[in-house]
Amino acid sequence: MLKEYETKIKKILITEAEIKEKIRFAAKKIDELYDGTPILLVSILKGAFVFMADLCRAVTVPCEIGFMAASSYYDGTISSGNIKITLDLSQDISGYHVIIVEDIIDTGQTLKDITELLKKRSPLSLRVITLLDKPSRRVTDFEADMTLFTIPDKFVIGYGLDYGEHYRNLPYIAEYDAN
Ligand code: IMP
Ligand code: MG
Repeated sequence: MLKEYETKIKKILITEAEIKEKIRFAAKKIDELYDGTPILLVSILKGAFVFMADLCRAVTVPCEIGFMAASSYYDGTISSGNIKITLDLSQDISGYHVIIVEDIIDTGQTLKDITELLKKRSPLSLRVITLLDKPSRRVTDFEADMTLFTIPDKFVIGYGLDYGEHYRNLPYIAEYDAN
């Protein structure tokens, strides 16, 4: 065991059962919205991979999946247009109803840039679902179409979210103890 690994998990904010319940609810909403129309779920790696795995198994509409990865260079002073796509979709999305599946919206810059990029590829429609939202940190006007949990300005780990690449495998969302 790495030194201090467990002690850094300060407090569980959202339990496994709470996440499961909200995903069931969100999947039902997606099923109703698309009503049998095929969709393409696009997850942003790495953080959203756990959410994607659970969400795609909860929807019942015909569904394809895709992955993208982006790295951000901005440091809080430089605004949008500063993300780099490190992994792009392999499919042409022009014939698809696309839903971007994200782990957390913080400043909003990543998703603002990714949605602008995907819109240029003319999908039939484009929506965004996020597991977590930290609206107090927003520096853009970006809003998701569906948000499962709104959280205060705390650094969180687990259920795909990391601190220094660790803790992604925790089944719950916890506050990270930075001290
Ligand atoms: P944004 O562009 O500031 O909205 O950045 C969102 C990205 O920052 C997320 O996809 C996460 O990878 C990362 N991030 C933001 N807040 C947290 C957090 O509390 N824990 C872990 N990762 C976070
Ligand atoms: Mg992410």
